[in-house]
Amino acid sequence: MGKLKILSEFFLVLALFLSFVAMSGSEANLSLFKPPMNEFIDSLMNKMTLEEKLGQLAQYPGGGSLGFNTGIDDDKKEMVRKGRVGSFLHVSGADFLADLQKIAVEESRLGIPLIFGLDVVHGFKTVFPVPLASACSFEPEAVEKAARIAAVESAASGIHWTFAPMVDIALDPRWGRIVEGAGEDSYLGAVMAKAQVNGFQGDGLSFENTILACPKHFVAYGAACGGRDYNSVEVSMRTLNEVYLLPFLAAVRAGAGSLMCGFNDINGEPMSSNKELLTDLLRVKWGFDGFIVSDWNSIGELINHGVAGNRVDAGKKALSAGVDMDMTSNIFGEGILKSVEKGEISEKLVDKAVKRILETKYKLGLFDDPYKYCKPEVEKAEILKEEYIQFAREMACKSIVLLKNKNEILPLKKDLEKIAVIGPLADDRRTPLGSWKAAGEEKDVVTVLEGIKKAVSKDTKILYAKGCEINDDDRSGFEEAVSVAEGADVIILVLGESADMSGEARSRSKIGLPRVQKELAEKIAETGVNIVVVLMNGRPLAIPWLAENVPAILEAWFPGIQSGSAVSDILFGDYNPGGKLAVTVPRSVGQIPCFYYHRNTGRPPSEENPYSSKYIDLPIKPLYPFGHGLSYTEFKYSKLRIEDKKEEAGDSLKIAFSLKNTGKIFGSEVVQLYVRDIVASIAPPVKKLVGFKRVYLEKGEEAEIIIYLPVNLLAFYNKDMKKVVEPGKVEVMIGSSSQDIRLDASFVIEGKETEIDDSEIYYSVVEVKK
Ligand code: BGC
Repeated sequence: MGKLKILSEFFLVLALFLSFVAMSGSEANLSLFKPPMNEFIDSLMNKMTLEEKLGQLAQYPGGGSLGFNTGIDDDKKEMVRKGRVGSFLHVSGADFLADLQKIAVEESRLGIPLIFGLDVVHGFKTVFPVPLASACSFEPEAVEKAARIAAVESAASGIHWTFAPMVDIALDPRWGRIVEGAGEDSYLGAVMAKAQVNGFQGDGLSFENTILACPKHFVAYGAACGGRDYNSVEVSMRTLNEVYLLPFLAAVRAGAGSLMCGFNDINGEPMSSNKELLTDLLRVKWGFDGFIVSDWNSIGELINHGVAGNRVDAGKKALSAGVDMDMTSNIFGEGILKSVEKGEISEKLVDKAVKRILETKYKLGLFDDPYKYCKPEVEKAEILKEEYIQFAREMACKSIVLLKNKNEILPLKKDLEKIAVIGPLADDRRTPLGSWKAAGEEKDVVTVLEGIKKAVSKDTKILYAKGCEINDDDRSGFEEAVSVAEGADVIILVLGESADMSGEARSRSKIGLPRVQKELAEKIAETGVNIVVVLMNGRPLAIPWLAENVPAILEAWFPGIQSGSAVSDILFGDYNPGGKLAVTVPRSVGQIPCFYYHRNTGRPPSEENPYSSKYIDLPIKPLYPFGHGLSYTEFKYSKLRIEDKKEEAGDSLKIAFSLKNTGKIFGSEVVQLYVRDIVASIAPPVKKLVGFKRVYLEKGEEAEIIIYLPVNLLAFYNKDMKKVVEPGKVEVMIGSSSQDIRLDASFVIEGKETEIDDSEIYYSVVEVKK
């Protein structure tokens, strides 16, 4: 009897304990009911054959040109049964993936779950603005929220892993993939990288609405010579460290659980076999403990690079360099089997990679519940929720940049009599989704024409003409467009690129408006009616004629599914634009590379001095500078003070100033902090962004902005490639863009030259006191 009581009490306590564990989330669950990760994985690996181990390193395409999942045939399923697959990419759908996972878990010898990956780059079903656009929001909180929604939607559709964020810095708008990143600046890039990793991975990988992030493409892929995709990169170690590596460091410090290496070579060393960067820097120095996936067939391409003689050699080089998973080359999976058996490639290397991949599956909770991401009822409930669609509209509004607004012709009145909407992109449903649209669908897109029709009064007449195609020489639509334009109160002219003119393998040698679009604009301008140009594009477009000749230009980029709603919110003043350029807009291809943080040179560009660093046939300045973007209100900057003007490495400098909305309406301003080292042992950039904040103010409202700037953010690589803070005077510039500096002061770094830890990352902290 006594024993029974003890037993029943024991069960009561156990029940209470279990319910506590259930409430405290799956992280707790994991650690309490499974052997610790290492033990679990070691014991699993002891049971694995070499084929099964290599299987874990193999990732195969699950989709094809016909869409997701179309590549999963019976042969692939048989491979899963044999334990010869670790992952599929380009798959999607809770039902489909549950069935596929079932084969791995129930029909393979060891039941190791698969990991499903997809490029969820700027949304899944709810497609947000492309990354270059959302960087223009200068609002990491919003970027994080968009990534969070993308994670929730894609996780509900069976995806565990996104190949994002793309954190490549890009200075060359010819490079089509500039659209996928945060633009030209490493500090902005680092902030956005961190925000996206936090958004994707949320509160931890074991939660079922988070996905594994994969910053890519490590590293300097964006520095492709001539902006030609997949091209070689020639970059100094200093620039590599100061510019290209920084956003990766930010992503790693934010806890990114995987990473993708790039297609490119750096100074002759392909990234897929680059041990110095993948292992010595990333793993050893930075302590990255996730796994590294190759890019698509990039291990196989080591042969084309000319550093591997055959597939086995390529596999050996990639594995030794630190690549863990082979995306689609099928070299790790099958190509190196015999060589490992013969001892030509060490099994220890294979084991290391297998362990990292199994650890990730464990952290994702897939050994606990391999189906936790594949629940059709969750999928139905989570996709395209009204609140997500609303946020897509808000995010698009935040990302759009008002480049020009002469005579304040924007915002427009909603009760104009007649509005002409013209242009090949005015009613285009595909383009606003941009590249990597994931599961985004054209039917969910609001076009600019639709948005305008919805926004205006019922008496306003909207006339529409396409005028021409996006990328074609046919002028036969010009006449109709001109007749639609004549007599209108205003013309909204929607021009730009199609979605597939930027993105992977979409480098362009010209960066103007494609084909006859400029001619269409010229013809329309002859009517004398005011024109507002709305641009949709994935790269900065050199549009000097438009900049000179039309009164208003709105850079909308590819704004996502709520494209038309957001554009008309801005056109008609329901939203006051505040986005700023994350990338410089050059005047022509010949001006590339054109970025704000160049060095001064011995002969700084000067309009007066012919023997200075410039072109004889171009103005010195770009068309629009980094950080530029107008608003319908105005902001006054004043009262700059630097609290303690003498600082040392490790200190934080307190910079305070006042910002007042002096215009007539509510609006936002991105305050930007730039610094310039006056004299240093290595020629410093003319200015460098080290802090920013998007501040929202009511009309007449004033706020005190306080920026805590870590002095370590001013460090650079010296002659010995040590990252140091050097003593000396530093200029501090507070601006509304990189060229519109409103306040300026200086301070002095005291003490000796101090080396700092370059595997740490520093951010300014901004406080807004209203
Ligand atoms: C791209 C990667 C992408 C991968 C899988 C490659 O061609 O370079 O960015 O993640 O394909 O879709």
